[in-house]
Parts: sequence; structure tokens; C-alpha cells
Amino acid sequence: MISLKNKNIIVCAGSSGIGRGVVAVLSKYNANITTFSRNIEKLNLLKKYIKEETNNDINTVKADLSKKEDIINVVKSHHNEYGDIDALVMNYGDPRVDNFLKLDMDDWDYNIDMMLKSTILLTKFAADDMIKKNDGRIIYITSMTTKNPLKDFAISNTLRSGIVALGKTLSIELAPHNITVNSISQGYFYTDRLKDIISKRSEELNKNYDEIMDNIKSEIPMNRFGKPEEIGNLVAFLASDLSSYITGDNIQIDGGAVKSI
Ligand SMILES: NC(=O)c1ccc[n+]([C@@H]2O[C@H](COP(=O)([O-])OP(=O)(O)OC[C@H]3O[C@@H](n4cnc5c(N)ncnc54)[C@H](OP(=O)(O)O)[C@@H]3O)[C@@H](O)[C@H]2O)c1
Repeated sequence: MISLKNKNIIVCAGSSGIGRGVVAVLSKYNANITTFSRNIEKLNLLKKYIKEETNNDINTVKADLSKKEDIINVVKSHHNEYGDIDALVMNYGDPRVDNFLKLDMDDWDYNIDMMLKSTILLTKFAADDMIKKNDGRIIYITSMTTKNPLKDFAISNTLRSGIVALGKTLSIELAPHNITVNSISQGYFYTDRLKDIISKRSEELNKNYDEIMDNIKSEIPMNRFGKPEEIGNLVAFLASDLSSYITGDNIQIDGGAVKSI
């Protein structure tokens, strides 16, 4: 059985969508959770919802992944509240989706800070804590674009592949400290992000929203979108002792959407 009691876990970008689903599942297993995002109202609602649903008190911090000083504050708050980090779950905001030629250097700079540098900085903090305990779990929630790069997703395709490569490298370097490092490459999950992408595509192609949605679903063998809690279940397993011999992997959770083996 999965047990996360007394596990101190940081979940990034947890106020909605996939991050929220992860926080909800880890709370069911009574983990000590710090989560953060930019919008304090959304975080307050999350805290209330989690308390009502699971009776778990979570630690929330207003912080922007793209700002180094905010990340340092998140780690300070987590240390004050719970102590060392046992598991780090990297999840992100939404990189701009557009043709490469329309992206400017500000788009790249922001997303390099928000996705890549935040991962490096938080992983450094987490690894320092985990090495002391000779135990730890690092989990990068990336995207199916790491296995199947998509048109108009240049930022996502590029940065997330770098994050998976970092995870693979660290799975080798941190294995002697009993720290596992894995990535998750999710397919289509029905969140605000996906709703925005469908709306944009429906405007561009002049087709209605449901038609676009059905077109995407028809390419998924399970013929449905994922639910954020389904990623939460995978994260709970990877954060638990049950996954002790799994490291360096990039695990698909996509209803079969990526067809390569
Ligand atoms: N949904 C999918 O089908 C899918 C598929 C593949 C990959 N992904 C990726 O998975 C990640 C999560 O997606 P989602 O669908 O859950 O998106 P979402 O519903 O839009 O949620 C994004 C979350 O990120 C937070 N956030 C945004 N920018 C942030 C920043 N700079 N610093 C801290 N927090 C920030 C938002 O909270 P605040 O507004 O409060 O900051 C929100 O909680 C994204 O990177 C997305 O591109 C999603």
C-alpha cells in the first residue's frame, strides 16, 4: 500500500489543473505538502478544498517559478513548516504555443527561467536535503512533446526535452545517494490549458470547439482525455517506497496517444 505519511513534498504550480490533481492525491495519502503559484486567491481556494476533501493542511506560498528569489522563499517556507524535502515534484506554467517565427527572445527568456532554471534551482535544494537522509524522490512532470514533438510547441519541445535529459543525468549521479529521478510525459489532460489550446485551434480552423475536441480524442486509443488525479496517482506511486528501483525513466501517461515504442 502507498504510504506518504511524514513525507515532505514540494509540488510546483499546484493551484489548478495537473498540479492541483497531484496535490489532491498526495493529500489523500497524508503527505506534508508545500505548493505554490502566482495567484493567492486560487491557492486559498485550493487550501480550503483540500482541507474539506482530505482533512490535510497544506502549506501554500505565493511564488513565481520564473523568479529565483520566489523559489528561495518557497524552500525557506517548506523548511520552516516541515523540514527537509523528501520529494520534489516539478510541474510548470504554460509555455507559449506558437510558430517558431512568431516567438521572440522574451518568450524564450521567460520560459527558460520558468521551466529550466527553476528545475535546476529546486533540484539543487532538494538534492542537498535528500543526500543528508540518503533517500529521496525527484519527479519532473513534462509532456508527451518529449517523445512526440508537436508543431507550434517549439518552447515546450525544446525545454522539456532538456529537463528529461537533466533527469536522466541525475538518475545516474544521485543513485549512490538512494535518490531516484524520473520524468512523466503526459498526453492530453482536460484542464484550463487544454481548453485554451482547443479554443485557439477552433478559431484558427473555423471549426466548433466540440469538433476539435473529438478530433483530438480520436487520436487517443482510450478515446478520452486524462484526469489530473490520474497523474496524481502516478506521482504518489513514484514518491512512495513502492517505486524504489525505478529511476531514469520518462513514463508515458497518455491513454496510448504516443504510438512509438
Ligand atoms: N493539460 C494538458 O493536456 C497538458 C499536456 C502536456 C503538458 N502540459 C503541461 O503541464 C503543465 C500544467 O498544465 P495544466 O494543464 O495543469 O495547466 P493549467 O491548468 O493552466 O495550470 C497551470 C498552473 O501553473 C501555474 N502557473 C502558471 N505560471 C506560473 C508561474 N510562472 N509560476 C508558478 N506557477 C505558475 C498556474 O497557477 P497561477 O495562475 O496561480 O500562477 C496553474 O496552477 C503545463 O506546463 C502544461 O503546458 C499540459
